[in-house]
Amino acid sequence: MRILISDKMSNKVEEVLQSKSIDFDIKTGMEPDELKSIIDDYDGILIRSATKLTSEILKDCSNLKVIGRAGVGVDNVDLETATNNKILVMNTPLGNLEATAELTVGLMFSLYRNIHLANDSTHAGKWEKSKFMGTELKGKTLGIIGFGNIGQRVAEICSAIGMKIITNSKSASDEDINKLNANKVSTNDLISTSDVLSLHTKLNDETKYMLNKDSLATMKNTAVIINCARGGLINETDLKEALNNDIIAGAAIDVYEKEPANENIMFGSKNLLLTPHLGASSKEAQVNVAIDVANQVADYLKDNKIINNVNTF
Ligand code: MLT
Repeated sequence: MRILISDKMSNKVEEVLQSKSIDFDIKTGMEPDELKSIIDDYDGILIRSATKLTSEILKDCSNLKVIGRAGVGVDNVDLETATNNKILVMNTPLGNLEATAELTVGLMFSLYRNIHLANDSTHAGKWEKSKFMGTELKGKTLGIIGFGNIGQRVAEICSAIGMKIITNSKSASDEDINKLNANKVSTNDLISTSDVLSLHTKLNDETKYMLNKDSLATMKNTAVIINCARGGLINETDLKEALNNDIIAGAAIDVYEKEPANENIMFGSKNLLLTPHLGASSKEAQVNVAIDVANQVADYLKDNKIINNVNTF
């Protein structure tokens, strides 16, 4: 039994695999052709977001049994081909939830208190105290799209700050909604009444460009958007227009349609705070996801134990 680790991850992954007597190779930064030529020599592969397991790479696999994603999003894996070839795909939904929730709230504070702008100005020797007068989050309405683990943790933190929480989730239980003092509303109402709109949903055909010219136009002109989920949820050109034309007041974006975002249409937009996909980038989260993914994949290969699978066959 042998596992390939094809993206950089915490060395905790090695400790776990060694403790379970599973052999592994670490080969990061491979070109697709090289990966395709070796992937089926392995029983399992552990990835983060850099490795793209396309249909081309997975289609001829007959030995590979499991793909373990150290993180949440599996949009870098062709699930249909994996499922057709009976390759189980697992993610680690809990390991980086705190990191992503905390970044979301940090971005919210930055936008509301102009921390990012005041930092640049103060470094430049200006003392623009009145220019950076902020607004308090307490009492504002936070609209959460995607009320899963991360969305709920954001709701919990923001409810403690005194924000009013609304979500458009159809699947959240009444218990979860009540526990977090949240209210369910329609998607249209959520978009048009939120002071802060935070995205925590998957990217799929239904959610792609859910924030676009038309939906952005219904937002309050004082509202801000936070996206620590996936780039394609927002039409980037439309967001740029909305910011530059004061349709909305600001946005903080951690994720992009094309990553790494060495260039992007949104660069330079008014009151736009950008970070380079830092949601899961905390020391704790990277250890958590490495331990989780190694255990899950090892337990599947050795004992057929299935946890956090995102496909079935
Ligand atoms: C995730 O899906 O887990 C996060 O976006 C972080 C990552 O891609 O590693």
